[in-house]
Formats: sequence, C-alpha cells, structure tokens
Amino acid sequence: MRNSANHRVYRREALRRVTVIKVAQSAGVPLSEIAEALSSLPTHSVPDTKDWARISEVWHDDLTRRINALTALRDKMAMCIGCGCLSVKRCPLVNEDDHLAKEGPGARLL
Ligand code: FES
Repeated sequence: MRNSANHRVYRREALRRVTVIKVAQSAGVPLSEIAEALSSLPTHSVPDTKDWARISEVWHDDLTRRINALTALRDKMAMCIGCGCLSVKRCPLVNEDDHLAKEGPGARLL
C-alpha cells in the first residue's frame, strides 16, 4: 500500500521475506529452494524466530558442504595456478572424484 506521500509501504513480514531472499541468494541458495522454504512459513501471521531458524537449518548442511568444497578447491588451485597442466592423471581440478576410472580404462558409459 501507499502512504500519504505516495511512498510504497510494506508490512514487516514482507520486508523480512525480502531480506531472507537476498541473504539466501548471496549465499548461493537457488531461488527454487528459497521459494520452497518461504512457502512453509505462515501466511497470515508474522514468522517468528523459530520459523526463521527452521528454514535456515534446511540450508545449513548444504552451505557447509559447499564451503568445504570451495575451500578444498581454493587450496588446490594454488598448486594448479603455478602448474597449468590440467593433467587428467594428476591434476586434482580435473575430474577429482573420477569414480568411473576405478572401473578400468576407456569409455565406461557407452
Ligand atoms: S594444473 Fe597441473 S596439477 Fe593441476
């Protein structure tokens, strides 16, 4: 709605939802997951601390996993930046978890 100065005025819960969306986006949470989390909030009342804690808990494990993966990537990049070989056999940046290689040489998915 608009106030007497014709400025848009938003309810507190709407501003909180926008804040959650922006924070979650900045953390790399996909919009589809944000929408799913927000859909679980009460629609006719202001979400409380428990509601916010519950939806952030959903993202906690995924954020931790991505932080750990990015930290490992960062540490490996330092070695690879000076190298540049991108060797399939020895470079950790190229197909690091090559589980198909354990099945033997050559194409494995044909
Ligand atoms: S670029 Fe050579 S080991 Fe990664």
